[in-house]
Amino acid sequence: MLCIAVVNLKGGSTKTTSAAYLLHALVESGLSVLGVDADPENCSLVRWSDLAEWATPVVGMPVKDLHRRLDAVTEGFDAVVIDTPPMESGRGIVTSAVRVATHIVIPMSPTPMDFDRLGAVLELVDDVGPLRAAPPVVAAILTRVVTNSASAEVYRTAASDLVPVLPARVARLERFAQAFGCPIDDALNTAYGDALTQLLDMEVARP
Ligand SMILES: Nc1ncnc2c1ncn2[C@@H]1O[C@H](COP(=O)(O)OP(=O)(O)OP(=O)(O)O)[C@@H](O)[C@H]1O
Ligand SMILES: [Mg+2]
Repeated sequence: MLCIAVVNLKGGSTKTTSAAYLLHALVESGLSVLGVDADPENCSLVRWSDLAEWATPVVGMPVKDLHRRLDAVTEGFDAVVIDTPPMESGRGIVTSAVRVATHIVIPMSPTPMDFDRLGAVLELVDDVGPLRAAPPVVAAILTRVVTNSASAEVYRTAASDLVPVLPARVARLERFAQAFGCPIDDALNTAYGDALTQLLDMEVARP
C-alpha cells in the first residue's frame, strides 16, 4: 500500500498543508485514501478535516508505534498520507512514520534556514533505514516559492546534492495560506498534483 509521510525538522514548514493537498490529489485520482494525523500538539489535519467536513477520513494517531498500529486501520484503503509533528519535538513519532512510509516527502522553502535543516531530516531517514524491510522513495519539494524569484533554483541545486527535489514547486499563494479549515477542490490541478505524479514515478534511490 502506498504510504506517504510528510516530514520536516521544524514547525511551520508546510507539512500539514502539503499533506492535505497530497491527500486530496490522491483522492481525486480515484484512490481510497486515509489521512493520518500524527501530530500530538496541533492535530491540524484532523481539525482541518472536521472544519471542512472532508469526505475522506482522517484519524488521529500521534503514537511512536505507528509502524505497528497502522495496519489495523488501513484495511480497504489504497493509500495513506501521514502528517507528522516537527522532528525536534516528536522524534519518536516521526521515526515511526518514516519507518512505515513507502514515500517520504520533505517540504522546504527555498531559504537558507530550511536548507540548513534538510541534513537533519535525511540523517533520521538514514538512521531508520536498517529498521525497514525495503528502502523508501525520498524527495524534497519546494514550497512557498516566491514567483519570479531566483531562490527556488538556487536551493533546488543545493538540495539536489543531498536528495532528489521534485520538479514541481508550490508557489507562495493566498490559496494555500488561507486553505486551513476549507474544503480542498482541484488539488490535482495545483503543483501538488504534479508533485504527486513525479513522486510516484520516482525510483527508490538517493544521489
Ligand atoms: N504555498 C504556501 N503559500 C503561502 N502560505 C503557505 C503555503 N503553504 C503553507 N502556508 C502557510 O504556512 C504556514 C505553515 O504551514 P503548515 O501549518 O502547513 O506547516 P506545518 O509544518 O504543518 O506546521 P506545524 O509544525 O506547526 O504543524 C501556515 O500558515 C500555512 O497556511
Ligand atoms: Mg502541521
